[in-house]
Amino acid sequence: MLSSLRSVARFRKPEFNADRRRLARSADIGDLRLIAKKRLPAGVFDYIDGGAEDERTLGRNTGDFESISFRPRVLRGIGEIDPSTSLLGRSIPLPFVLAPTGFTRIADPQGELAVARVAARKGLPYALSTMGTRTIEEVAAAADSVEWGADGNRRLWFQIYAWKDRAMVKEMIDRAAHERYEAVVLTVDTALLGRRERDVRRGMELPPKLGLGTIFDGIRHPGWTRRFLTNPPIVFANVAGNDTVGDGSSAVNLAAYMTSQFDSSLSWEEIDWLRSVWDGKVIVKGIQTAADSKIAAEVGVDAIALSNHGGRQLDDAPSPIEMTAECREAVGDGLEIIVDGGVRRGSDVVKARALGADAVMAGRAYLYALAAAGEQGVDWMLDFIDEGTRRTMALCGVESIDEISTELVDTLR
Ligand code: FNR
Ligand code: LAC
Repeated sequence: MLSSLRSVARFRKPEFNADRRRLARSADIGDLRLIAKKRLPAGVFDYIDGGAEDERTLGRNTGDFESISFRPRVLRGIGEIDPSTSLLGRSIPLPFVLAPTGFTRIADPQGELAVARVAARKGLPYALSTMGTRTIEEVAAAADSVEWGADGNRRLWFQIYAWKDRAMVKEMIDRAAHERYEAVVLTVDTALLGRRERDVRRGMELPPKLGLGTIFDGIRHPGWTRRFLTNPPIVFANVAGNDTVGDGSSAVNLAAYMTSQFDSSLSWEEIDWLRSVWDGKVIVKGIQTAADSKIAAEVGVDAIALSNHGGRQLDDAPSPIEMTAECREAVGDGLEIIVDGGVRRGSDVVKARALGADAVMAGRAYLYALAAAGEQGVDWMLDFIDEGTRRTMALCGVESIDEISTELVDTLR
């Protein structure tokens, strides 16, 4: 009786590490999102999860990936699957980049440091945001503290906005050069901040205030509140100490702050300025049309990121995946294209490659992972994307990234 019971009952070994326990029960990034939703105060979750206005573009970013189907080939004798390729002239184990996100430490106190460590271990690029909550130097040190993956390189990018105070931007760029960052990413879709109505409803300020209004939320999320209160205050670490721009150490309304600090008169001439102060690679993030892709190619940037800022800026902007084929056609082979927005699975990596992208980039995927299970969560998420990419390639009948072509997909719209 006991032996027959034993033969049918399979008990999982108990997992005492809470992060690992949560991950063991997760199957995809949607699960990480639900765990993040439970663990974060509602205002923090909504800041990360939400988009602009009616969130139609936010929905299209993921929905347009869903509307692409595969045309899988069979009986092709699949052997070793290899998702490696190159980006910015260097090899990369998977065409995947971790996107810049502001305020990363509201998801987890380790924030950017955890992301930098995981990215370096995997050999994938990670872009630190100007609105980051760890410094250029701290992030470089975190990446250097681990064994680098893949080609033995650590790949850090630094994302900038066009602050009115260009001297401050130059100073940050100099620091990034000193710390051997590979690329500067100029984000161009943020002349001002989009209207995120979830934040408007909550009167959300950043860093979140633990005042009367949020105490109730704080009591319901004691873990987050303890971590928030026992760690150094969240500030814009890279502008800290600058008297003119404010470093976020007192809570700010993000929209008002950005409108007051950012230069909305930004033009393509900015690229010349950037070239005059930065010797490394230049990526323009936030391109949304074939016409602008073409200008970027003519101006001579190294890569563009087709992006609508994760649906957080202009609602009813096109989804990047929808624009990919058109932009690739406009620029030919001369310019690398990164597609960013709505990437949640390895199959999305394959779809983007099929339509002409060199790589994809994702923000929320790692923010949900960080909130769900800290550094281990980000590690899990990247393994999930890597495995999914390999599985999709195998099921589509392709062994290498270069074999992925438009023949492999059908767009339903
Ligand atoms: C962002 N994004 C962003 N982009 C940027 O250039 N600088 C920044 O500081 C931020 N901050 C930021 C915060 C949060 C909470 C999110 C979710 C996003 C946009 C980001 O780089 C990327 O374009 C999107 O996240 C891509 O969409 P997915 O992957 O989140 O769907
Ligand atoms: C955002 C800013 C920080 O999307 O870029 O919230």
